[in-house]
Amino acid sequence: MTDRLIIFDTTLRDGEQSPGASMTKEEKLRIAKQLERLRVDVIEAGFPAASNGDFEAVRAIAGAIKDSTVAGLCRANDRDISRGVEALRGAKRWRIHTFIATSPLHMEKKLRMTPEQVLEQAKLAVRFARQHCDDVEFSPEDGSRSEIDFLCRVLEAVIAEGARTINIADTVGYAVPQQYGEFIRTLRERIPNSDRAVWSVHCHNDLGMAVANSLAGVKVGGARQVECTINGLGERAGNTSLEEVVMAVKTRKDFFGLETRIDTTQIVPASRLVSQITGFVVQPNKAVVGANAFAHASGIHQDGVLKARQTYEIMTAEDVGWSANKIVLGKLSGRNAFKQRLKELGIELDSEEAVNVAFQKFKDLADKKSEIFDEDLHALVSDEAVSSAPEHWKLVTMHQASGMGERPHAEVVLAEGGAERRTAADGDGPVDATFKAIERVAKSGTELLLYSVNAVTHGTESQGEVTVRLAKAGRIVNGVGADTDIIVASAKAYINALNKLHGSERLHPQTSQPTP
Ligand code: KIV
Ligand code: ZN
Repeated sequence: MTDRLIIFDTTLRDGEQSPGASMTKEEKLRIAKQLERLRVDVIEAGFPAASNGDFEAVRAIAGAIKDSTVAGLCRANDRDISRGVEALRGAKRWRIHTFIATSPLHMEKKLRMTPEQVLEQAKLAVRFARQHCDDVEFSPEDGSRSEIDFLCRVLEAVIAEGARTINIADTVGYAVPQQYGEFIRTLRERIPNSDRAVWSVHCHNDLGMAVANSLAGVKVGGARQVECTINGLGERAGNTSLEEVVMAVKTRKDFFGLETRIDTTQIVPASRLVSQITGFVVQPNKAVVGANAFAHASGIHQDGVLKARQTYEIMTAEDVGWSANKIVLGKLSGRNAFKQRLKELGIELDSEEAVNVAFQKFKDLADKKSEIFDEDLHALVSDEAVSSAPEHWKLVTMHQASGMGERPHAEVVLAEGGAERRTAADGDGPVDATFKAIERVAKSGTELLLYSVNAVTHGTESQGEVTVRLAKAGRIVNGVGADTDIIVASAKAYINALNKLHGSERLHPQTSQPTP
């Protein structure tokens, strides 16, 4: 007997809470469309009450997605839920996901509420949400550290109010697999109306057990929804990784007896897109989506794989979409072919002018490198000159000179609100000189936390993709830039990060404080 496991993706909400992973509306839309191609059941598009920007992003995703349910996170109060309803109501299928903390520690220290007050607020929130929406999910935050008797009372009450999904959050990644699975099984056994809800798992990876805990919640606890993110993106050590859960259930169907709706060949494209947009690089030995996940380096393994693949391979690279990395366009491709491929990738530029700018950039790129891959197109449209996101700084042009035994020198022209500013600096290396030149004008007072370079595709003609992480007054942002010249890519990434720092503040759903 197989039954279905619901895949609830929260890359755009819990994943985005990771410091530096904030995304623009356009970026979120591109990821949402890839998640739809991946055939996830539910896309948690954001936290509409966080800011106007988040609200607009959730509304845009709700309007664009047809094949997945679109969910929005709301604290357990009428204001958040009304905001969620407003953002989501244009969707074909939508869900309100409301939550409140139920552990003694969170109730006393964070909420400063008694258990009875929390119980009442949870009931009122679900009742209010159900007046507007049939599909309501309730999460007891820090559920895995909550007292079971109290949790049973809360969950029974919210199911009676109409919550259709109950999601047991392991908010701080404290659970261990057997115990978490049994905890969910006990809740389901003890709560009289438990069969009126789908049970869900939501695990954080602080002890490296998020995937194991989620799978135990499914196998031992009987959960039928897993909340997860692409590449395990998320605060601190991240969330349960979607690709690992999906491939575990598929590869070990003999053990789990479950099926998902996921088109697994879209996993690698989704992973690359999320990494490219957020600047969170995937470690080479990461299961399923790491560059080495299917590389059989040792002689013994290669010999075995050549004789019979199954000797060392339990799934194939093609199964998870490694072959989707193909040449799509070249120097001779015309505007229509270019537009068509963008459409297939779910990339919608909001004006003909933006298409023209992107097409010109594509032509320039095709002059530099003969083969253009999907990853190149994603990098190209992420570029600040194509995106419609508001920009304080723009890179107009730059030049740098360096050589053995010479002090590197960079000259940069930046535009600030239309006015061009010319600047120059020396540095310890060409990247250092470029950043110093930009800072002479920008005077941002930021601290550089991370600088990393990756190849977008393979070969030395690949575009270099640079991530720059900057911090200022407790806020952290990632900037990403791509170019065949990695110094230019570095300047773009730095400017992208500066522009993000100009963005407005947003609320963190769980701490109710501005996000770092
Ligand atoms: O980790 C958590 O507790 C959450 C809830 C809001 C579901 O993300
Ligand atoms: Zn979470």
